[in-house]
Order: sequence, then C-alpha cells, then structure tokens
Amino acid sequence: MGTKNSRLQGFYQLSPSERLQMVGAFDGLNEEELLTLQGGNGSLPLERADKMIENVVGTFNLPLGIATNFLINGRDVLVPMVVEEPSIVAGASYAARLVRAGGGFQASSTEPLMIGQVQLVDLASPERAVLAILEHKDELLALANAQSASLSRLGGGARDIETRYFASSPMGPMLIVHLIVDCRDAMGANAINSMCETIAPRLETITGGRAYLRILSNLSDRRLACARAVVPPAALERDGLSGEEVIEGILWAYSFAAVDPYRATTHNKGIMNGIDPVLIATGNDWRAVEAGAHAYASRDGHYTSMSVWERDAAGNLVGTLEIPLAVGIVGGATKVHPTAQAALKLLGVKTANELAEVCVCAGLASNLAAMRALATEGIQRGHMGLHARQIAMAAGATGPLVEQVAHRMVQERNIKPARAEALLSALYGPELEIGAS
Ligand code: MEV
Repeated sequence: MGTKNSRLQGFYQLSPSERLQMVGAFDGLNEEELLTLQGGNGSLPLERADKMIENVVGTFNLPLGIATNFLINGRDVLVPMVVEEPSIVAGASYAARLVRAGGGFQASSTEPLMIGQVQLVDLASPERAVLAILEHKDELLALANAQSASLSRLGGGARDIETRYFASSPMGPMLIVHLIVDCRDAMGANAINSMCETIAPRLETITGGRAYLRILSNLSDRRLACARAVVPPAALERDGLSGEEVIEGILWAYSFAAVDPYRATTHNKGIMNGIDPVLIATGNDWRAVEAGAHAYASRDGHYTSMSVWERDAAGNLVGTLEIPLAVGIVGGATKVHPTAQAALKLLGVKTANELAEVCVCAGLASNLAAMRALATEGIQRGHMGLHARQIAMAAGATGPLVEQVAHRMVQERNIKPARAEALLSALYGPELEIGAS
C-alpha cells in the first residue's frame, strides 16, 4: 500500500487491546483475524488440535508479541513472534530501529530446493550403480513427480538426482541418492518423503541394492535465506558511549563467537531467538530450521557464528546472516492453525521465500540486540522489568499488584521470589507502601 509504517512509536506503552487496534490499522486484518491474533475466538479449536497431533487433551497458550520497526527490502513489516522469553520482542524491535537508520534490511533467498535421501546398501559395484541411476534419471524424476500432484500444482517438483558414495561406515559401504526437489511455497517434508519412498523400489531394481532410509535432509543448504544490515555509528550511541565504541564492542563480541564454539552456540541461540518465534507464529517446523541452521554453521568443519559482522569503509557496522530456511506458507499447521493464517496475513508475505526472508532478518536483528547489550551494559538490565513481573506473578501477584511489586524489586535491584512474597504480603499491612516512590 505504501502508507504502512512499522515504526509504531510508543507501541510498548499501550495496553494489549490498544496495540491490537494499531496492528489492525496497519494491515487491515478483519475483526475476526484480529480476534484470532489476540487468542480469542477459540484461536485453535480443540477439534482442530485433535487432528493435528495424537492423544490430544488440550491446547497450550504462549504470548504473541509484535516486533515493530522492520523495514525489509523497502517494505514495512510488523513481525508476529510467539515466545515465552522476555526481551526478545523488545530486542528485535530495537535492533530493527537501528537497522532502519541505515536504510533497513536487504534480504534475498535461493530457489526453494530441498534434498530427499535414499540409502542404498549391498551393492555389488557402486560405480555401476551410479551409472545406472544416472541413466534412469528422467524416468526416476517422472516417477517422483507422478507421486506429488500438489507440488506440481504449485509449480514445483523433483528436479535432479545426485549420488554420494560412502566407502565405509560402521555397517559398511553405502550409496546415498539425493533427490533435489523444488518445493515452491510448501515446506515440502511430506512430498519429499513420499517421493523418496516411491522411487526407492525402482532404485533397488536398477542397482541390485537394498534401500533402507528414505527421508528428507534437514540440512537444506540449497534453500538459503540471507539478510544484510548496515547500522551507522550515530544510531548506536548510548549511555555516554560513542557509536564507534559500541561498534568496537560488538565486533569483539562477534570475534569471540567466530573462534569459540562455546560462545558461538550462545550467540547462535540469540539468532534463533528471533527466528523460532516467527516460525511458531506462522505454524512452521522450527526444529527443522534449528537443525539445518546449526549444521550449516559447522559446514567448514568447525562450529562457528551463523552471522558475520564487520565495519565498512565509512565506519558503519555491517552484519550478514545466511542460513538454510525451509519454511512453507501452504499446508501443514500453517494452513490448519487460524492464528498462523492471521500471522501470515499480517506479514503480508506472498511466497515461502518472502517468509524465509522475514525470518532471517528477525534473526539478524535479535543477534544485533544481544550483542549490543552484551558489549555495553550487559544483558540483565533489559531483562529486569519483565523478569520482575514474572517473579511477581509467580509469587501470586495479580492485576495492578504485578506492576507495583515488579517496579519496587527493579528499584531495589533485588528481584527474588522471597522479596516478591514479602512485598506482596506487606501490601496487606499498613507499615509498607508499595509503589509509592
Ligand atoms: C538469551 O536468550 C540470548 C543471548 O544469550 C544471546 C547471546 O548471548 O548472544 C543473550
């Protein structure tokens, strides 16, 4: 529309229903969709949940927050995030504001190509087996494509066949057949698995071997999404630190993750903090993306940072993140879960590629927020407010008492269950006035 602006100033100070109104004004979601985002309207009816997994007895709620300020390839985006951890939505929004000062995120993605694997063993001659498979390539691709009408309808399908030979393994040699599948707007797991199962008997006949596993690979390294962010030093000035000083600290934080797997694991967890909540909000398989992203971070033989941060010639901070991102906007939970549908509509994404591009930007934003905090005041300051509220609620505070008890604990820098309980019980006694200061 061009008039949408994700820079919603003061959004965090509003009540949940006021925020929802602003979200409605941004996107024009209808009343029913807004209610679904809010968690009302029986957002996931039990009968539907009962069809999604086995042994269902109920549904489970998590907070859905909206990350603001995202400008991605020139488009303003409000990013729905479902997550239990405080500071993630605030951190992503804050970092997106910093990146906005540098022109917003630039994002791109590859063709949505996934890999299905068929394991062949007991081969008399692996060389002859490889030749036979390649000779029958067109026939095998046609067989795979006949299996998945839905992918073909989307314009996708099996595109290629490759082989990889392992001369030894704990059980002996094996030949692995890779079926390369264009998944278009589907995540593709079901279609790929079915295709692998369909071509496996034919592969056995062609090669004289025996097929065991027939399953997709979650190392979807041909389905990558990439984000780039530029932050001018002036945007990073804070608390008496110059932008250059903050950049220096961020580059040391990045360097730590680049060389040390113990740090890289936590650094990458901070990246996934931005990605998983979008995957959950849109009904996508976040375990698949997690597995692929971490494996990709080890592709050079040692586990390292998923992101890269550097300073450009003009002194700006520049970050890039490239990870495998196998997501879908059709099929599975994406289709069945009403909140996922509303979240996708809010995002305004028309393709799975566009969703992957939003996810990778949210990951880079989370990474920037964490590094900036870690390299300056530390991570705890930002966490304190919400953490204090959680402790207050766990101690039994409800309504306005939550805010009062949390506020007092933050002031005292003493955020502990015992203190929350003491403050709470003091509320009923005349001797201590809480929240008066
Ligand atoms: C906490 O959820 C994430 C961080 O640990 C990430 C990081 O250390 O970079 C703050």
